[in-house]
Amino acid sequence: MEGYLKKTIRTYDQIATGYMLSTSNLQPGKEFTAFSQRVITGDTVLDAGCGGGRDCKAFAELGFHVIGIDLSVEMLKIARNLAPGCEFLQTDLRKIPLSDNFVDGVWCCASLLHLKRKEVRRALLEFRRVLKEGAVCCIVIKKGTGEKFIKDRRSQGKPRFYSYFQPGEIRELCKSLDFEILTGETTQSGSGTYRQDWLFFLLRKPDRA
Ligand SMILES: C[S@@+](CC[C@H](N)C(=O)[O-])C[C@H]1O[C@@H](n2cnc3c(N)ncnc32)[C@H](O)[C@@H]1O
Repeated sequence: MEGYLKKTIRTYDQIATGYMLSTSNLQPGKEFTAFSQRVITGDTVLDAGCGGGRDCKAFAELGFHVIGIDLSVEMLKIARNLAPGCEFLQTDLRKIPLSDNFVDGVWCCASLLHLKRKEVRRALLEFRRVLKEGAVCCIVIKKGTGEKFIKDRRSQGKPRFYSYFQPGEIRELCKSLDFEILTGETTQSGSGTYRQDWLFFLLRKPDRA
C-alpha cells in the first residue's frame, strides 16, 4: 500500500469508534434513495469503503445481500458488529476479489476521496468490472481542487489524505470509462467553516459492455 494511503488507514484504525459515533447519522439521504430504488430485494450490493457499516446495515434492512469492503481492520470490526448479516472483506477498492459482472450495485460514499486523483480512474474501472451490465454505481466525493492531507476534529487531529474534483472532471472521466451518467449533482453538508460541497454521481454500466 502506498505511504499516503497507509497513513490514512492508520488514522481510521486509530479513530474507528469515535468516527463511527460522529457519522452514524450522516447517511446521504437523497443519494441513498436514488441508488436503492435501482436495486431490488435479494440483489447483491457492494459497499466500497464501507467504514463502520452504517450503510451496509441500511441496505441489509432493505433486503439486499451486502458485501462491505474496507482496508481498515478496526472499521471492519465495528461493521461486523453493526451489520452481522453482511459479508465483509478487508481489501482495497482498487482490487476487489469478486468476479466480473457479479454485483447489482456499487455504493461508494466518501471513500474514493482518499485516493490520489490519478488512482480514482483505477477504482472506477474496478467498479465497472464487478458490476453486471445495466447495474448502477453511486459515488459521493468532495468538490474542490487538488489533493492534500487534512487533520480535523472528526479525525481527532490525525491526518487523512483527500483529493478533490470538479463536476466536469468526473463527468469526463466516467464517460471515458464508458459509464452512462444518470445523475451528476452538487450537494452540501454542514455550515459556516464546516460547510462542504459534495459531488454525487449515479452511473450505469451499459448493457452492451
Ligand atoms: C470517510 S470514511 C467513509 C465510510 C462510509 N462509507 C461512510 O460513508 O460513512 C472512508 C472509508 O474508506 C476506507 N478506505 C479508504 N481508502 C480505501 C481503499 N483504497 N480501499 C478500501 N477502503 C478504503 C477507510 O478505511 C474508511 O473506512
